[in-house]
Amino acid sequence: MKKINFLNLGKHPITNNFLSTANPKNEFFYNLKLSYHTETKLISLNNFVPPKKMFNNKYAHRASASITMREAYSSLAQKIKKKFNSKSILEIGSNDGVFIKHFSNIKNIGVEPCKNLAELTTKMKVKTYDKFWTFQLSNQIIKKHGKFDVIYSANTISHIHKLDETFKAIENSLNLDGVFILEDPSLLKSLQKLSYDQFYDEHAYVFSITALKNITKKSGLEIFNIEELKTHGGSNRVFFKKIKNKKFKISKNVYHHLSNEKKFGIHKLKTYRDFAKKVQKSKESLIKIFQKIKKEKKKIIGYGATYKSSTVLNFCKINKNFISYFVDTTPTKSGKFTPGSRIPIKAYKGISDDVDYAFLGAWNFKKEILKKEKKFIKRGGKFITHVPYPRIISK
Ligand code: TMP
Repeated sequence: MKKINFLNLGKHPITNNFLSTANPKNEFFYNLKLSYHTETKLISLNNFVPPKKMFNNKYAHRASASITMREAYSSLAQKIKKKFNSKSILEIGSNDGVFIKHFSNIKNIGVEPCKNLAELTTKMKVKTYDKFWTFQLSNQIIKKHGKFDVIYSANTISHIHKLDETFKAIENSLNLDGVFILEDPSLLKSLQKLSYDQFYDEHAYVFSITALKNITKKSGLEIFNIEELKTHGGSNRVFFKKIKNKKFKISKNVYHHLSNEKKFGIHKLKTYRDFAKKVQKSKESLIKIFQKIKKEKKKIIGYGATYKSSTVLNFCKINKNFISYFVDTTPTKSGKFTPGSRIPIKAYKGISDDVDYAFLGAWNFKKEILKKEKKFIKRGGKFITHVPYPRIISK
């Protein structure tokens, strides 16, 4: 049983640490390396960053920042209500309440360690525990509120370092017929799209279905259904039940996913070694694009100062010499500087007329952005993306 390092992405900052100055004194950096676990096939960061450095009362990400996500959470809430007829729901990582607020007519509890976010949902009258998810917290919650019909967690479980405890605490908090729904970026999609930017401090893990199956066995949970999502560039919504609950049949699509992953080689170290080589090539090619545009004295900005873009900028060493500034719709990011790369971030007010190129930091919202920026494209503006390979998009 062993973790084998297969990719070194260099020194990286805390992605959520948007800087107040372009020349900070003590910016924290860590070594971003990726590992493959020979037994569970789990892909993880080699060294984890202490959670309190990432998840604190200055947390900038708002899950409701895009129309795409607001609509996705609203329609999912309707679907869950219909499908499971649940009387109680717990959300682990409730962020700004974009999902849990839709359940005001039943028992709805949030868990959110970032106090600035927990305050938002408390104001929405959702009982929110501003703590990290642990077995101890699960006991505290069920003592007060009972067990739950549904536990939902999007883009959070992959952030929690102690997975065994996490899944045991979920099993502990579910009613016998209860369902746990996990949503996280798909490892298969990340490998296929060469989106190495799925890896950053918060994403301690990027899950395959294969690894999820392997690591949840001992907690008494099993996968019974999977839905593929377009969110975050390709995610899986994975439905778990208690192993002892025979009410839900295991869907054929679970076996289908497992066999697809096997065909791709998700269980083989060679797959990750090949991925690492392609990532190096992607870096070289992206830098060439930036250098060529700069030689032509054209102006490049960044579009969406995402966490993902932090990995690209710091790995490829793209800084203010290439990107004049970022535009971003999140109010808490504007007026700040991107971590590590230290590029100014401006509040989004459209793309200025003097901009020739915009690097798609928020490439996972490409469709929404291209639709919104028709005027920019019409006047000859172009986007730069690195997914699935570095290129310029002109329509
Ligand atoms: P996320 O990928 O972590 O959800 O972050 C998306 C970021 O991109 C968020 O800060 C908002 C920003 N963004 C824009 O600035 N403009 C847009 O049109 C979209 C869709 C996102």
